[in-house]
Parts: sequence; C-alpha cells; structure tokens
Amino acid sequence: MANLVTSLCCVVVAAVVVAYAQRRSQLVGRNQYEPMYTEVVLRCGSLDSNASVSWKVNGTDVRAQHRQLGPKLILTQVTLSHNGLYSCFQNPNGERRDTILLHVGIRPREPSVTCRSNTYPKGFYCSWHQLYPTYIPTSYEVDVVHNQKSLEVQKDAVHKNRCHVRFPEVFSSSPYKVNVTAINALGRASTLYSFEESNIVKPDPPERVTATPIRFNARRLEVTWQSPATWPDVDNFPLKYFLRYRPLIRDTWQHVELSDSTAHTITDAIAGKEYIIQVAAKDTEIGTWSDWSVAVHATPWIEDPSPITSTTDGDFPTETKTSPIPSSNAPQKAEPPVGRAARLLTFFSPLLLGMLLLLM
Ligand SMILES: *[C@@H]1O[C@H](CO)[C@@H](O)[C@H](O)[C@H]1NC(C)=O
Ligand SMILES: *[C@@H]1O[C@H](CO)[C@@H](O)[C@H](O)[C@H]1NC(C)=O
Ligand SMILES: *[C@@H]1O[C@H](CO)[C@@H](O)[C@H](O)[C@H]1NC(C)=O
Repeated sequence: MANLVTSLCCVVVAAVVVAYAQRRSQLVGRNQYEPMYTEVVLRCGSLDSNASVSWKVNGTDVRAQHRQLGPKLILTQVTLSHNGLYSCFQNPNGERRDTILLHVGIRPREPSVTCRSNTYPKGFYCSWHQLYPTYIPTSYEVDVVHNQKSLEVQKDAVHKNRCHVRFPEVFSSSPYKVNVTAINALGRASTLYSFEESNIVKPDPPERVTATPIRFNARRLEVTWQSPATWPDVDNFPLKYFLRYRPLIRDTWQHVELSDSTAHTITDAIAGKEYIIQVAAKDTEIGTWSDWSVAVHATPWIEDPSPITSTTDGDFPTETKTSPIPSSNAPQKAEPPVGRAARLLTFFSPLLLGMLLLLM
C-alpha cells in the first residue's frame, strides 16, 4: 500500500515536472542554431502546411527581410542581428503555438593546439583555442595517446581551454598524439598534434629576481634569483640560466649563460647608470628557454657626493636611483647652489645652536 502511494506520488511529481518543462520551453523557447549568411526556416510547431499564423520577434513585428509560407517563417542571409525570441500565433484566435530562440553562429574550425611541459618530468599541459569566434557555445573533447595507449586527461581548474596529462614514462622517444575536437550545434572539427617529450619542455621563468649594488664598487651588481617553483625536481633535472642586462639608455643587451647557479655578479656595469636585468631558465638537457623573468632595475653603488643629506633622510638614496640620469657622462647632477646652501644650513644649524648655547 505504502509502495502504491509513493509510486502515485512519483507519477504526480513527474507529470508536474513535465508540464512545467513544456510551459517553460513555450515561454523561454526551444533553441535553434543556424549558420551565418544562410536561409533559415522557422517552423511553427507541427501545424498543417495550410495553417495561417503571425510571427513576432522579441514581442514585436519581424522587421528583417523575410517570407512566410503557411506556418513557416523564412529569413534570408541571417546574421547576429537576427538572433532573438521568435513566437508564432495561430490565426484567427491568436493562440501562441511555438516559441523559438534563434542563435546564429559558425561551425567550429580546427582548433589551434599547443602543449608544453613546465613541470618536467611530471607532466605536460595542452591548451587550445578557435582562431575565429563561433558566436555559439563550443565545447572540446581531448584524447591523448602514447604508444597506442590512451592517457588520462585532467581539465584545468582555472583555464577553460586547458588540460593536464602525466608522463607515463620519462625519456620516451615515441610521440604523444593529442587530438582536440571542437564541437558545437553546427558541426565539429579536430586537430591532431603530435610531439616528442623533448620538444615541449619549457620551464616557467625564474622567480624572485633581485639586483643589488655592491658597496664601494661603482661597476658591480649582484643578481640573484630562484628556480621556478613549478619545476618539481631541480636536483635531478637541473636548470641552466641565461642572464641579460643593459643600461636603460642603451638598446643592446649583454648576455651571460650560467649552468646550475642562481646568482651572478655583473662586473662591467657603467658607473652611475640604471640597469634593467632579466633571467631565463632551461632544462640542461632538453627543451627550450623559458620566457624572460620579470625585469628588475638597479643602479651600481654611487659615491654619495653630499653625505650630509643622507643623514637627515634615510630614504634619500633610492630617490637618487630613480632620478633620470642626464645623457652626458657626468655621473652626478650638479646641485643648484641655493639648495646646497640651504642643506648646509640645516645641517649646521644644530651645531650653531650648540655653540651658541656653549657661549651662553
Ligand atoms: C488544411 O488542410 C487539411 C487537410 O489537408 C484540412 O483538413 C484543414 O481543414 C485545412 N485547414 C485550413 C485552415 O484550411
Ligand atoms: C531580441 O532581443 C535580444 C536580447 O535583448 C537582442 O539581442 C536581439 O538583437 C533582439 N533581436 C531582434 C531581432 O530584435
Ligand atoms: C579525433 O577525435 C575525434 C573525436 O573523438 C574523432 O572523430 C577523430 O577521428 C579523431 N582524429 C584522429 C586523427 O584520431
């Protein structure tokens, strides 16, 4: 008995749900996807071909170029401007018989696919995108095969068009085949991307790059950095580094390649010039160089011509660093005489005051 009641209850609930869904689709409309620049036929429900209906879009008369054939509305050369909610009403009583949400779009093309391992030897990721917009929802299927075996593909938590794959083995020379299929209501298209492990290794740039002047040395800068945090095993898969630096006033870089070291001292800096410094990383055996790190700026140590000022203001030295350096080779700006006199006065005034007090 109880069973009968629960089943009945379920039937009632199901009926209500179905009725609601039907009502909702009448109000919201069923989706119809059509390719751009084509002729589109909207059919008013399943009415007979001799039925007479009126069409409305977004609640108003259809103003775009169209023809009507019984219950059918025919739109020519549809573009995005034809998108909308189309409703048809049977004449003569004006009862609504159908509601269609028209989406004009484009079928997907072969997606552009790239894969990269910044976590070698753990795994790699692939990302993809459409070169042209499709205007309608497009989803992707990704298959990765290695040695005839399908590999597990994990969606990225943040990037929509990205997935992660673990290397099933390291030092494998057989290719990985990544098949990305773009799918939407108007069609599908696949790209097959094939590569070897060694071709996609590219670390992230080095991190926490710092450059500091060395006291009493006008031509040196001490540069330090850390290996990228994403590189999982820097001990067994060491990185080498590439340093580039130039004074802001010059266009050409100087380069240094370093194996397995995370510090370097520039010894040939031009005295008094602000430098820009970047570092890149690469696996010592395979793959390509990372992108350049964040750029850091530093000026070699400058013998302070007026140490007086730095005694009154601890932050002053950083100000001299950022001040634009004149293009002449004069390492220091000549100070205006008034400013110097004023500074001398401020420095000596406590002394003068003290002397006055002593005299009194
Ligand atoms: C449409 O045609 C069907 C037969 O094909 C007929 O039964 C019906 O009455 C016609 N309706 C109108 C509105 O002419
Ligand atoms: C209908 O309304 C939608 C949403 O406001 C709008 O994007 C679309 O252009 C309208 N369509 C027409 C044909 O006016
Ligand atoms: C790629 O995947 C799609 C969808 O699963 C499939 O239809 C297509 O044949 C595959 N292409 C290749 C070259 O494996």
